[in-house]
Amino acid sequence: MIASPKPKKIKVAGYRGLISPIVDHKSFLDFLKVAFKNNFTELTPISERPERQVMYFTWEGKGYFIKRYLSRGLRSYLKYKLGISKASLSFKTPGYLAKFSVNTPKPMLILSKHYRLFELEEIYISQEIPTAISLRQFVYENIYSGRFSRKQRLDFFRSFARFLANIHRAGVYHGDFRADNIYLENTLEKDYPLYLIDLDAIKTIRWISREMRVKNLDEIGRNFKDLDKISFRDRARVVVYYLKFYKGEKKPLKVFLKEICDRTRSKL
Ligand SMILES: Nc1ncnc2c1ncn2[C@@H]1O[C@H](COP(=O)(O)OP(=O)(O)O)[C@@H](O)[C@H]1O
Ligand SMILES: [Mg+2]
Repeated sequence: MIASPKPKKIKVAGYRGLISPIVDHKSFLDFLKVAFKNNFTELTPISERPERQVMYFTWEGKGYFIKRYLSRGLRSYLKYKLGISKASLSFKTPGYLAKFSVNTPKPMLILSKHYRLFELEEIYISQEIPTAISLRQFVYENIYSGRFSRKQRLDFFRSFARFLANIHRAGVYHGDFRADNIYLENTLEKDYPLYLIDLDAIKTIRWISREMRVKNLDEIGRNFKDLDKISFRDRARVVVYYLKFYKGEKKPLKVFLKEICDRTRSKL
């Protein structure tokens, strides 16, 4: 595993934060200053909610995603002060996950600006994962379409199960574990490099309860409920592989599987 270079402190356009040496270049910062001045209007919008926007831009041939959070109130201000705001979590989590061989987009920059009392703007920039597509798209293209052979399907399920088991073993819980927040390289290799994105929904805790593990497995299975090509048998296989990699589950497979299915049924 290659260690990411250490971020440096930075002040730019009235913001302060941390920058990765990868983008610590005058032309990158000049580009950002212009973007700030124009209120990001020249960047490609990806998604928008009242409290945050996601945008895309390219610099020197590489793509970057920028997530801008606006918050107000004592609660979010305290989280920011404690270093656990959504932007801070997004910036810190990749380093922690890398220790467990869980891939994420590389964090490039985090900035914050304090306005009136308890009013904050935070900016988080991550590098685009080159050649990756979302798990949703991957499943549609390779499994739903019937393109994958049985062996390819099983290899993929095994990679996915190992990825989720690793995350849980690391004490990481993604509260929004959906097929749009998982990316992977669209290769036909045996081991699929999977990536976790949207890291502000992550909690790092010492012990992921069975309830949480069941929830993640149910959620991801429910994402593909409309695809009758992912049969109950295939879903069960993912769970079998998952338990093999997770190791610490005390309940037998049958009971664990039933808990997942019961949850799925109650949510549909
Ligand atoms: N580093 C990244 N690499 C590739 N795609 C990304 C990256 N960051 C964001 N995206 C894309 O932008 C979308 C929205 O970003 P995300 O962090 O998931 O925010 P949201 O809270 O809107 O779900 C993602 O679903 C994904 O398509
Ligand atoms: Mg998302």
